[in-house]
Parts: sequence; C-alpha cells; structure tokens
Amino acid sequence: MNIKAPKGTKDIFGEEAYYFQKVEQVILEVCKTFNIEEIRTPMFESTDLFIRGVGDTTDIVNKEMYTFNDKGGRSITLKPESTAAVSRAYIEHGMHLKKLPVKLFYLADCFRYENTQADRYRQFKQFGVEYIGTESPFSDAELIAAGYQVFKRLGLTEGLTIQINSLGGHDCRKIYNDKLRDFLKQNESKLCETCKIRADKNPLRVLDCKESACQKLFLDAPLPLDCLSEESILKFEIVKNALTNMHVPFEINKRLVRGLDYYTNTVVEFNLKGINGAVLGGGRYDGLVEELGGAKTPAVGFAMGMERIVTSLIKRNIDKNIPRCLIYLGSIGDCGNLKATTIANNLREDNIVCESDILGRSVKSQLKYANSINAKYTTIIGLDEINKNICTIKNMDSGEKQDVSIDNICDFLKNNKE
Ligand code: HAM
Repeated sequence: MNIKAPKGTKDIFGEEAYYFQKVEQVILEVCKTFNIEEIRTPMFESTDLFIRGVGDTTDIVNKEMYTFNDKGGRSITLKPESTAAVSRAYIEHGMHLKKLPVKLFYLADCFRYENTQADRYRQFKQFGVEYIGTESPFSDAELIAAGYQVFKRLGLTEGLTIQINSLGGHDCRKIYNDKLRDFLKQNESKLCETCKIRADKNPLRVLDCKESACQKLFLDAPLPLDCLSEESILKFEIVKNALTNMHVPFEINKRLVRGLDYYTNTVVEFNLKGINGAVLGGGRYDGLVEELGGAKTPAVGFAMGMERIVTSLIKRNIDKNIPRCLIYLGSIGDCGNLKATTIANNLREDNIVCESDILGRSVKSQLKYANSINAKYTTIIGLDEINKNICTIKNMDSGEKQDVSIDNICDFLKNNKE
C-alpha cells in the first residue's frame, strides 16, 4: 500500500503554493511598515514551556500536544503555538535591554492533535506578531490595525468581522473567576465531564468548551465585561476609540474569551465568511513573561492561520500573481540547445522568467510544453538562427511573429513585457 501524508497534514504545491507566497509577501510588506522584526524560534521546545505558558487546563495542553521523550530523556513538544516560545526567547536573550517595545513577527509551523475537519489541520502555519514590553492600549490597537492591514492588502475585507472583548486585568479576572465558579457550581449537572473537572480550577476554560451543552450554558453565564475595574474599562475605551479613528471596523463580542490561559484585558478574533473557525486570534498577555521566569512584562499579540487565509483567497479566486513565463527558448540540436540555455541564463540575470529545453524533447513537444506553461513568447534556435544571429519570436497570445537579433532578445523582452 502506498504511504500517504499523515492525517491532518497536507502537501502544498502548484496554485496553493503561489497563494502562500502572495500572503507571505503581503505580510512582509505590512511588517516592514509597522517596523516589526522577524524572529524564528525552534520547532520544538521543552514541554514545560507550554504547560506553564498556555495552561495545563487548556485543550491545547490537555489533548492536543505532540509530546515525546528524546533520546536524552527530555520531554519535548512540537510547538502548538509560538507566543510562549517567543516569550521564552525574549527572556533568554534579555531583549528588553536593547529597546522597548520589542516588536516581533513570525511565520511558523504549529502542531496540534485536533479532530480534523475543514480548515483545521494537525500541522498548520501561523503568521503571528508579538509586542512585548508595552502596556499602552494604543499597542493593542496598533496590533489589530496591523492584522487588518494584511486582510486589506489581500483584498479580504468582504465578510470579515473583527470581534474584540476585554477580560480585565489580573484583579478583574479574579473577581470574574469567582463569579463564574459560583455560576458553574450551581449548574454543575449540565456540564460535560471534562468541564466538571476544570470548572473549579479554571472556570474560564468552560466557556470555550466545544461541547454543545457547555456552550448552551455559557449563554446565561456572567460576562467578563461586567467585572472590569475602572482602569480596564478606560483601557478598553482607548482601544475602541483608536480602532475607530484608524477606520478598523470592529464589534464587541461580550462572550469572546479565547482558548488559551494567558490572556488579560483585550482579546480579539477575526472571522471570515466561508471559513470554519477564526482566521486570526490574539490579545494581551501581561502575565506570561513573568510566569515563564522573566520580569513583570506587559505584552500583546495575535496569530493568523495561513491555511485559512489561503483557502479563502482560492475560494474567492483572488489574483495569485503567478509569474508568467515570458519566453520559452526552444532549440534544435545540441548547438541550439547550448545557445538557448546560455541565453536563458543571461535573461534570468535580468530577472526575466524563461525556460529552455532540459529534457531533450522534439521541437513539436517543446512547443506543446511552452503552451502548457502558458509562455507569452516562444522562439526556436538552431544552427541557422545562430549563423544569422536572428531568431523569430512568436507572441503566443496574438500569433504575431517578429525577427529579432539574438543579441537583442533581452531588450526586446524588456520592451514587450506587458
Ligand atoms: P489560536 O487562537 O490558538 O491563538 O490560534 C491563532 C490562529 O491560528 C487561529 O485563529 C487560526 O486561524 C489558526 N489555527 C489554530 N489552530 C489551527 C488548526 N488546527 N488548523 C488551522 N489553523 C489553526 C494562538 O495560537 C495564540 N498564540 C495567538 C496569540 C499570539 N496570542 C497572543 N499572541
């Protein structure tokens, strides 16, 4: 039996690969304008990092991590998300000593053993941004605006909803947790088995439980927004006001809590019509760096699911910018092939997309191939053309033919790119 890619993973090639490149290009442009620098962290980390960072009652840590012992007996986990890893790197390299805030972005593969369904994979790619060392609510707003810029530049604003909420700071979270714990105790019989266990230890996790009974119960549960301190209310007002002024469309979702433990104050999710699950999620995590052994450090960030974005672009048939092969340099015989290969190499140095024969095909098959790759121009170079230093270039769209000096092919193509 043939071996197939593991469940929840996929090979990315052809059209889809171009869409990935397009999204990555837009991401790099946006990060440049926001002056956000790249960070690449390892694909695996110590398991403890995620237990302490993401939280031992979350679904990610409880059910979804790819954890194993390496040959040295260390417990290792394939990164299920990058925020904990970036925070670890921030502490490890004393990044706060250089400048604050530290503004970092990443494009990273993540691994979660999830129930696979549409738009949910076991290996997926996240684009994420973390602002570490800033407490200002303007950083929350700037970050959400950066996420929105990516969607705007990709032409993905139709059917996009941006939802925000505030969970409050550490003290509000405590008041809210007590209130919620009481509510859950009164309704214990309606909870699923997992939530019965975690309701006391981490009541907030019940609110993002995927079981329908727990979701139904959540509709009557107390809301984080009703437990905010004056300070958290003010911060949330600043975020909302800044987003409005930056023309970032958003709505308040009072029930948005997110599935990771580290969030405080602002939380955010982007959803796109036609895509299952959020396309971007994030929020403030003022306690994480300290939880991982660093100094008390406020931070805020988000991560976006690249596959979900690419699926949306494909579904909407949004331009993918496949670079068109400008010329196929066909050839007759070894001399012609050598000449065509040499010209092709020179053209590539001038950034012209071109191909020549590397399969020893007949002229007929070469032209068939040129057609299949949608080359804009074709030419055939043989001894005759080499001796006369002239070749005939055919425009494959119009059928028009033109004689061009072999030495001038590059100039001809530069003048006839469009
Ligand atoms: P998250 O909500 O777990 O947050 O993931 C962020 C995004 O990654 C989701 O909105 C979704 O687009 C994508 N994603 C998550 N799981 C999958 C999956 N199984 N298949 C495909 N896409 C998926 C975090 O990971 C936080 N670290 C975000 C953050 C950064 N918060 C602060 N800074």
